[in-house]
Amino acid sequence: MAGQVKKPVKITETVLRDAHQSLIATRMTTEQMLPIIDKMDKVGYHSVECWGGATFDASLRFLKEDPWERLRKLRAGFKNTKLQMLFRGQNILGYNHYADDVVEYFVEKSMYNGIDIIRIFDCFNDLRNLKTAVSASNREKKKYPNGQKEVQVALSYTLGEAYTLDYWKDTAKRIEDMGADSICIKDMAGLLVPYQATELVEALKAGTKLPIQMHTHYTSGVASMTYLKAVEAGADIIDTAMSPFSMGTSQPATEVMVETFKGSPYDTGLDQNLLAEIADYFRPMQEEALKSGLLNPKVMGVNIKTLLYQVPGGMLSNLVSQLKEAKQEDKYYQVLEEIPRVRKDFGEPPLVTPSSQIVGTQAVLNVLQGERYKMVTKESKKVLAGEFGETVKPFNPEVQKKAIGDTKPITCRPADLIEPELEKFRKECAEWIQQDEDVLSYALFPQVATEFFKYRAAQQSKVDPTLADTVNKAYPV
Ligand code: CO
Repeated sequence: MAGQVKKPVKITETVLRDAHQSLIATRMTTEQMLPIIDKMDKVGYHSVECWGGATFDASLRFLKEDPWERLRKLRAGFKNTKLQMLFRGQNILGYNHYADDVVEYFVEKSMYNGIDIIRIFDCFNDLRNLKTAVSASNREKKKYPNGQKEVQVALSYTLGEAYTLDYWKDTAKRIEDMGADSICIKDMAGLLVPYQATELVEALKAGTKLPIQMHTHYTSGVASMTYLKAVEAGADIIDTAMSPFSMGTSQPATEVMVETFKGSPYDTGLDQNLLAEIADYFRPMQEEALKSGLLNPKVMGVNIKTLLYQVPGGMLSNLVSQLKEAKQEDKYYQVLEEIPRVRKDFGEPPLVTPSSQIVGTQAVLNVLQGERYKMVTKESKKVLAGEFGETVKPFNPEVQKKAIGDTKPITCRPADLIEPELEKFRKECAEWIQQDEDVLSYALFPQVATEFFKYRAAQQSKVDPTLADTVNKAYPV
């Protein structure tokens, strides 16, 4: 390889977001993160992904933490490293479409509190659903020194007839025209196999000049090979996780990828000794999670069914728990086979939050009811009424008719029909507001945020929160 031009591959570390979301149900606390960030800040990562996805919901709901406070603490600790978040387009970090004013305010406050790189995606790859988040990010970006903030758009990767190389190439070009600074191939289910990664990256490179970042999961067992081929084909950045929280449903291990490229033109230049010290910090946390059952060894292996059924890891575990609840675990394989059929009826969208939950739940109902679409969830109706946007293929007209009757589906950008709602939310949660950002927590998760606000107030007035009567929702003050 002598004489080859050096092109060090950049690393985004996911241990503080996707890795613990994928392996331990997003339960890593801020207190667990803070002691190691000084060391992580010295690594020279391209960025550290630390916010978005389920972290926001889990912080408020399970950890009784203010996600905004976490972000500010991480920002204070990471003095040299860019912080990255995941943003679900018009769904922000929630599961529904929000009005533009909420999306814009969320972008503003995310950057203000310390996010440098916003990775924005839509579960249908309907670019209209990204428009507001991307333009708000570009507007906000100007308030900060040049090059500090970055707007990345992610393609939700999936397989299917409609998803040709030309489709991806054209979509990438449109993303560039929208004003994104970089593009991510977001392969949430680990469907992208090595040689197809070569073709895909080459196609995107032919379609756009933007840097390409790779994001995948180890679920199907091919992830590190996919990264290798993607980097050789020109991918600029890869998402990896520190080894104790890598592999399985998480990302390839950071140390392994660093070692893989050592001495090659793609040498990351990262210090293995420093990475080893960081891994030493996270290892007891992994062991503890294994002991407590929070980390199920099952999610750490290879699940080849993900390639057969194209179902992301998180969706598989949801499915199992839904069937368990209904005491119908023997229907597992029937449901797995129903998922691709429902996906087809729904216009063959990628399966990623929230479409993965919607398709998965509908598939469970179709099997358990013994008749397809006998019961249709509210969310399925919304999808078939166009309220999540446009899918790459048309909906199955019979299923659509059965689900929404004669209701006329919408064809415009769904958020065009949503009135501004920030002021309404402000009024609703006025009694709890202690910081500007609280209205955003409330907008996304009204009940969960209100519970958290009550808990916070009880803490501040020095009332023992364990005394709180959570059944009657009353806190002794
Ligand atoms: Co992911």
